[in-house]
Amino acid sequence: MKKYLVTCDYNLEDLVIEEIKLKISEATEIKQFENFSHRVAFLVPNLDKEKNNAILQKIIALRSIHSIIELKGSFYLDNSTLETLKAKVMEIDLPELKTAKSFRASAQRYGTHNFTSMEMVKHIGHTVILRYQTPVSLTEYEYNLRVDVIGNFVFVGYQITDDTLAHRQGKYNKIERNFHHRAATKHTLAYHLLTLAGLKEGDSLLDCTCGGGTIVLEAASMLGNKIKILAGDMHLPALEGTKENLKLNNFDFVEVKELNARHLDETIQDYVEKNGKIDKIVCNLPFGIQSAKQVNMRGLYDQFLTSADKILSKNGKVVALTMRQGVFREVVFMIKKYKITKEYVTEAGGLYLHIFVLEKL
Ligand SMILES: C[S@@+](CC[C@H](N)C(=O)[O-])C[C@H]1O[C@@H](n2cnc3c(N)ncnc32)[C@H](O)[C@@H]1O
Repeated sequence: MKKYLVTCDYNLEDLVIEEIKLKISEATEIKQFENFSHRVAFLVPNLDKEKNNAILQKIIALRSIHSIIELKGSFYLDNSTLETLKAKVMEIDLPELKTAKSFRASAQRYGTHNFTSMEMVKHIGHTVILRYQTPVSLTEYEYNLRVDVIGNFVFVGYQITDDTLAHRQGKYNKIERNFHHRAATKHTLAYHLLTLAGLKEGDSLLDCTCGGGTIVLEAASMLGNKIKILAGDMHLPALEGTKENLKLNNFDFVEVKELNARHLDETIQDYVEKNGKIDKIVCNLPFGIQSAKQVNMRGLYDQFLTSADKILSKNGKVVALTMRQGVFREVVFMIKKYKITKEYVTEAGGLYLHIFVLEKL
């Protein structure tokens, strides 16, 4: 068997496990890795080169993950010295390095140790060269040998991809963009929001605080023109940026409109008259960190949810990401138009964010 470790958004490991179950039929023993956050591990069969590669392509195409490591071994360090670490790493079988044209070493370290990550890279790299005579290349490497130390737990593997998966900048699920909103949502989170909304073919989707358009770009790349998509914002630079990003990806089926999330029934009335009510509203709401006090957020969330109720279809859903979870929850209870069916807490840029899934009452 081969064992893969994927990294993901904090506290959303269960949603990643669901995506793996859905898309990688060969995967077994899918679970949070050693109870560490941000990490999920699973096994797949070790078949011939072509079949292994086909499975790997499916893993790389997952939308909820940040990076992939093929795990080769793990152990606990009973003393925190570089010599012990080196010796234990070298006990792990790394047959690929015997025939590899080149390799590089990299390291991540969390906790207090008697060595730095740089020292780990240097010493482990040196030991591999002595043992396998594999040349080092920092740019053209065939294998990136990655050693992570978390407290006294160590795992070793080959890094297959880096964080480009979360930014949709690698070869797979690539999304072009020129305009980046300063509070842009991570694509992995956009995927989770859309999945939690149960977005499916035939649905209409609105992101009424679209910023640079991450959520609608993700939706368009998932379902294309099988869904009707409207992106809106009250700030013109955001609208122009979203249009530019959509154009770069040829997502010409997405409509972009100036609107006010406080008055959705008025500002997209013409759109609703023409296209019917909206099935899913998915958005990353402004948090008001720099611009507003909490009291203003209450007004915004109240007006947003009250006006959204008027343009949502009968079984419509609102999935919103916010840092102001207390205010948001109070408003939901106060206006009595929705029930909260799910709530998740995650983290981005050092901020704790809540995902709320609301259904119309
Ligand atoms: C957190 S950002 C959204 C980021 C976006 N999801 C992205 O990835 O780029 C919030 C956005 O809400 C917009 N906004 C704030 N108040 C609004 C309102 N009343 N109506 C519509 N948009 C609003 C801001 O202009 C900003 O672009």
